Amino acid sequence: MKVSTIVIVGAGQAGALAAAELRQQGYAGRVVLIGEEAHAPYERPPLSKDVLLQPQTARCAIHGEGFYAEQNIELKLGMAATALDAQARTIALADGETLAFDALLLATGARVRRLPMLDALGENVHTLRTLDDAQRLLPVLQAGKRVLLVGAGVIGLELASSAVDLGAQVTVVEQASRAMARCAPPLLTDHLCNVHRARGVALHLGAPLAAAARENGEIVLTLENGTRLAGDAVIYGIGVEPETTLAQAAGLHVDNGIVIDAQCRTSHAHIYAAGDAASERIEASGHHRRRETWENANRQAQTAARTMLGLAPEAREADWFWTDQCGLNIQFAGDMAAPEWIARGTLDAPPCVLFGLDDDGALVGAITVNQGRDMRSAKALIGKRARIARETLADPAQNLRNLAREFA
Ligand code: APR
Repeated sequence: MKVSTIVIVGAGQAGALAAAELRQQGYAGRVVLIGEEAHAPYERPPLSKDVLLQPQTARCAIHGEGFYAEQNIELKLGMAATALDAQARTIALADGETLAFDALLLATGARVRRLPMLDALGENVHTLRTLDDAQRLLPVLQAGKRVLLVGAGVIGLELASSAVDLGAQVTVVEQASRAMARCAPPLLTDHLCNVHRARGVALHLGAPLAAAARENGEIVLTLENGTRLAGDAVIYGIGVEPETTLAQAAGLHVDNGIVIDAQCRTSHAHIYAAGDAASERIEASGHHRRRETWENANRQAQTAARTMLGLAPEAREADWFWTDQCGLNIQFAGDMAAPEWIARGTLDAPPCVLFGLDDDGALVGAITVNQGRDMRSAKALIGKRARIARETLADPAQNLRNLAREFA
């Protein structure tokens, strides 16, 4: 494909990786990477962990200093894209400049879902999505501070873990009956809740908020069951929403994310999307699916760049993500809604691996707890929908790498 200017809107994981991939694949035209935040592209996973726990030494830049200049990638930071004209193939920037593009990648990411009841309190109410957000949390998460966390998803639980490490008193309030229900099975999340409780976290599940108020300088949350919880600050993580404003205004097909096919093509021939903002059509079912993971951002970034250059996408593996909390590294691959789970080892004494089987007994999901070295093999076996005897799966003496070789 003869392309002379590629513009990428969004300088997060997907945007930065796509720019790098274009160069990696030998694209010599102009690449403009536009980011609303003032920081050079950075990884988000450390924001709830290392950036809070070791603020002096934590590193989260995606590429080294000098990378963008060396690669001749024009990085425009602190710059919002304000309007997209899909027909004219131009994008307007906040400083008044209008850029013409031959191809455009929308890697606009997601923003936190707002909870007006808490926002209305004003001060000492936080969310966590950006590096600036994380830095604002540093004085909040200190020894002796009483921290109220609303939402026991990935962010809520990782923050609970970091806050306890920092000596804060932590209360978590979750409206659903289960923590991390969006992305992990009950066996794992029930265990995780016990681990948090053993570390001193007061965890309220199935506990919708009824009211929030500021009383005598403290924040008081009242649950629907009447329980009152007081704290010095509240941090909420109740999920994210795809940032689709530009795409929507430009008339692109948007349906809980910018709709793309497996090659990251949107409904407009010259516009592509990747990462948290994109909703990918699953060919088999015809449904769309948005994935909010680091790995998906990387994969779609690479795919989008390759598609723009007329290259086929690389073979895809099972979906994968991880969380680090309470000294546990937990990695997840494949289908977390699998109806049956077989444990290798016990969760109480990791390392442990959980294998998810579908109704036909095929391996469709895996969770490693402090056993990340098995993940590559587990993903390969999930890719093959391997059928392995339950006793073999449960037996730690059966090397997973050998099993993966058998099915290769
Ligand atoms: N009150 C309390 N809890 C709520 C409310 C509410 N009003 N609304 C939603 N929740 C709960 C949900 O039930 C869920 O458990 O908030 C949790 C949100 O969890 P996630 O969907 O995992 O979102 P979050 O933790 O905010 O993470 C945001 O960052 O790390 C990434 O993968 C993660 O993409 C996700 C993003």
